Amino acid sequence: MARHLVTSALPYINGIKHLGNMVGSMLPADVYSRYLRQRGHDVLYICATDEHGTPAELAAKEAGLSVAEFCAQAHDAQKAVYDGFELAFDYFGRSSSQQTREITQHFARKLNENGFIEERAIRQVYSPVDGRFLPDRYVEGTCPHCGYDKARGDQCEHCTRVLDPTDLLHPRSAISGSTELEVRETKHLFLLQSKLQAEVEAWIDAVSEQWPHLSTSIARKWLTEGLHDRAITRDLDWGVPVPADTWPELAAEGKVFYVWFDAPIAYIGATKEWADAARDGETRDWKSWWYEADDVRYTEFMAKDNVPFHTVMFPATELGVREPWKMVDFVKGFNWLTYYGGKFSTSQKRGVFTDAALEILPADYWRYFLIANAPESDDSSFTWEHFTATVNKDLADTLGNFVNRVLSFSRKRFGDEVPAGRAAGEAEAKLGEQIAHLLAEYEEHMEALQFRKAAAALRALWSAGNSYLEEKAPWLEIKTDADGAALTLRTAMNLIHLYAVVSEPFIPATAAAMRGAFAPENDTATWVTAEQAKALDAVTAGTAFTVPPVLFAKITEEDLESYRERFGGAPDA
Ligand code: 2FM
Ligand code: ZN
Repeated sequence: MARHLVTSALPYINGIKHLGNMVGSMLPADVYSRYLRQRGHDVLYICATDEHGTPAELAAKEAGLSVAEFCAQAHDAQKAVYDGFELAFDYFGRSSSQQTREITQHFARKLNENGFIEERAIRQVYSPVDGRFLPDRYVEGTCPHCGYDKARGDQCEHCTRVLDPTDLLHPRSAISGSTELEVRETKHLFLLQSKLQAEVEAWIDAVSEQWPHLSTSIARKWLTEGLHDRAITRDLDWGVPVPADTWPELAAEGKVFYVWFDAPIAYIGATKEWADAARDGETRDWKSWWYEADDVRYTEFMAKDNVPFHTVMFPATELGVREPWKMVDFVKGFNWLTYYGGKFSTSQKRGVFTDAALEILPADYWRYFLIANAPESDDSSFTWEHFTATVNKDLADTLGNFVNRVLSFSRKRFGDEVPAGRAAGEAEAKLGEQIAHLLAEYEEHMEALQFRKAAAALRALWSAGNSYLEEKAPWLEIKTDADGAALTLRTAMNLIHLYAVVSEPFIPATAAAMRGAFAPENDTATWVTAEQAKALDAVTAGTAFTVPPVLFAKITEEDLESYRERFGGAPDA
């Protein structure tokens, strides 16, 4: 079996992320990793905070902290939220680690040896008021492509085009707001991506056949527009220093690498952090996951603004290094999750942030809703009304109520053990066929990374239990046929156990509560085979069980009103 390396876009350090960030990267990566682990694969899920660049420096300044201190605190704050969301990273590292620094410098030296780096004098925005050069987000202004007036010097958030600060119309300093900006000459390292265009194209042709349309179309668009040589250093205090052994002059000037040069390398660095964190005689081999790792299947998760970097620019870097580093096998790109059709915005604090989400409801409510509505083929819109309807119908009614109803009724009529009743009949055989069929569908969608479809199949599995229960109506059966009612309840309890196993990637805490309701012997299975799904007899008569507390509380009209009030409805623009 292949080993699976999974990574999700590195969340920027400059603040707690919103639900849109969560659904476009970390959450589906976690669902997928959990699924693969349950299917018995060797999985390594790596993520990290992306800590370099102007956003970090600007946020630290606003917080009145040194960048190092700000990043350390912000990393821990983000990690706490991800723990709350039950993201089961193998390691959540930091792009500012020593490990990433060393590998980044290694990559730069190799690119240089291979003729893909050149020192060039360029004209850069300089602010006399601030007494410094203003790279990237230190300059704001109007996008020359779409006219968005809050475009940042590195990228326009509105049309996603990558920019250079000197491209902006009506530029102003993000530090002081000064518009008296000059352009001065300074030396920087350039990555000669144009020399690598043909190789990147050939690589995309070879690897991307099965990728989602979103990922390939973005990659192709970039390649058609042509790969340009890009400055990969900046005048900043915080970042991976240019190695003095190779570029003494630039190092002496304090140049650091551009954040997008080291960020993708941080996946490798964070894997080394993971290995270096091994304790108690455990050995972890980071390099076998990344170097000459032909047996590894590497899947990356990210929103569409990150796709160019991972389908074109970082591959160009890896190809230019001329060493056998692992390149991505599958890029799962996502569209945007909107908030009432408008933008979620970290900078403008609009929408639902992940910490606030967990303050009002446990992770499983969010995990299920977000994945079931993941913006896969198009943007999708978060509204409180849709969230409430989904939670109440799918989680509270279809799943939660089923579990509680079956277990409470059985306990009341038959006590604390799974009742025996009669042998399975026609209805159970039909149900088993249906469950096995739906399970196969669920597996197929998970393997194809089609998350909305997988969620629909999971929901159909839950619904099948409800239909069976309604059809058999054990609360009526019990009046005339106790053995029949016992069979129905035993079968329904087996469904609960099956739901516990297969729902785990989506709703891990609830899955554990469902599974914990039973105490069958040797219950170590991590998945359900088609035969087991058909037979529905893993939990045998006589197995003790308990009734868990209500799994999902319904969201009331009052709750809904309070959420709308706290988070706002439709954005003004
Ligand atoms: O877009 C972002 O939020 C970036 N921090 C993603 C970096 S992904 C990777 F390259 F590291
Ligand atoms: Zn634009």
